[in-house]
Amino acid sequence: MLFEGLELVSALATLAACLVSVTLLLAVSQQLWQLRWAATRDKSCKLPIPKGSMGFPLIGETGHWLLQIFSKIFSHEALESYLPKIQLVIQDTLRAWSSQPEAINVYQEAQKLTFRMAIRVLLGFSIPEEDLGHLFEVYQQFVENVFSLPVDLPFSGYRRVRERCPWEEGAGKAIREKLQCTQGKDYSDALDILIESSKEHGKEMTMQELKDGTLELIFAAYATTASASTSLIMQLLKHPAVLEKLREELRAQGILHSGGCPCEGSLRLDTLSGLRYLDCVIKEVMRLFTPISGGYRTVLQTFELDGFQIPKGWSVMYSIRDTHDTAPVFKDVNVFDPDRFSQARSEDKDGRFHYLPFGGGVRTCLGKHLAKLFLKVLAVELASTSRFELATRTFPRITLVPFFGLDSNQNKILPETEAMLSATV
Ligand code: HEM
Repeated sequence: MLFEGLELVSALATLAACLVSVTLLLAVSQQLWQLRWAATRDKSCKLPIPKGSMGFPLIGETGHWLLQIFSKIFSHEALESYLPKIQLVIQDTLRAWSSQPEAINVYQEAQKLTFRMAIRVLLGFSIPEEDLGHLFEVYQQFVENVFSLPVDLPFSGYRRVRERCPWEEGAGKAIREKLQCTQGKDYSDALDILIESSKEHGKEMTMQELKDGTLELIFAAYATTASASTSLIMQLLKHPAVLEKLREELRAQGILHSGGCPCEGSLRLDTLSGLRYLDCVIKEVMRLFTPISGGYRTVLQTFELDGFQIPKGWSVMYSIRDTHDTAPVFKDVNVFDPDRFSQARSEDKDGRFHYLPFGGGVRTCLGKHLAKLFLKVLAVELASTSRFELATRTFPRITLVPFFGLDSNQNKILPETEAMLSATV
C-alpha cells in the first residue's frame, strides 16, 4: 500500500516537473522568437517595427490567420449560399423520419442530421449515403474518445484520437474527390472558402491541414447543434400554443400557405430574419437548454469579483448555465416563455452579459449565425410540414405526421398521409 502511494506521488511529481518545464520552454522560446524578429529591424531606417505579437515559434500567427478565414466562412454571403442546401438536407431528413414506422431516438437522429449538414453543406462532400453512414460511425468513435485520459497506450482512447486513421482515410478520399470535381468552379461551401482564402493569403493548405480543418469544423458544429435541435423539438412538443403561434407567423408571412410546406430552396435569409416570433423561440430554447455549459479562460490581469481578488494566471471557468439561471433580468427563469424576447419585453436587453449561449468576447462562437440559421430552418420545416406529439407520458416520445396540405378556405391543416413517426427524445 505504502509502496503504491509512493509510486503515485513520484508519478505526480514527474508530471508536474514535465508541465513546468514545457511551460518554461514555451515562454523562453516565445521571447527568443520575439527577439529574433526584433533583430531583423533595418538599422538604417529610423522607424520602429510594428508593435504586436509575432506569435509562437515557427507557426507565428497562423492560428490567428486561420481564425480570420473561419469568420469568412460564416459571413452573410456565405450563409445565403448555404441556406438552400441546409433546407434540402432538413427536408430529406424529415421525409426519411416520417417514412420510418417505428420510434426514432430524436437526439441520435439529430446528431446524424447535423453531421450530414456539416458534411454536405460545410464541407461540400458529395459522397454516397452508405459512405456517409460509415464516416458518421468513424466520427462518433473519435468523439467518444476525445475526452480520454492523456495516457498513450495501445488501444487507449488517447491513442485512437491521436491516430485518427479511419477519419483521415475517409476525409482524405472525400477531399481529393472534391478537389478534382470543383477545380475552376466558384466556391460554394466552407471548405472551398478555406482552400481559396488560404491561396489568397499565399499559403496553400496541405492535405493534413485540410483534414484537420474538416475535423475541427465538424467538431464545433456537431454535438452543440444536435443538442439544440433536440431541445427545440422537445419544447415545440411540450408547448402546442407556441407551435401554433409559430404557424400563425408563418401563415402571415406567406410561408405556410395553401400549397403546404415551403418549396425546396425557397427560403431566404431576409425572410427568416423577418420571423420575429421564430427568433424568440430559438433564443428561449438556447437560454433554457444551453448546449455548452461554459468556457475556460486564463486571467491576464488580477481583477476583483464580489470583494475577492482573482489573481493573474489563474484558470477560470465562466458558466453559461449558471449565468442564465441567476440573471436577474429574466422573470420566472425556469419557465419556457419565448415572449420574454419580444420587442415589448426584451428581457435580454438589460445588460450585455446575462444572455450568452454562444459565449462572449473574442472567443465567441464563430458559427453562431449558421447554428441559428439551421435551427430556424428546422423549426420552419417542422412547423409547416408536420404534426407531431408526445407518444408516451413516462418517457418522452413523439409521434409525427408528415407533409400536410392546408385547406385554403378554412385555413386548417389537413394530413395528406397517414405515415406516422414515433421518435424518442
Ligand atoms: C447551437 C449550436 C452552438 C452553440 C450553442 C455553440 C456555442 C459555442 C460557445 C459557447 C463557444 C465559446 C466557447 C468558449 O467561450 O470558450 C463556441 C466557440 C466556437 N464555435 Fe460554436 N456553438 C454552436 C455551433 C457552432 C457551429 C455550427 C460552428 C461552426 C462550424 C461553431 C464554431 C465554433 C468555433 C470555431 C468556436 C471557437 C471560436 C474561438 O475560439 O475563437 N459553433 N461555440
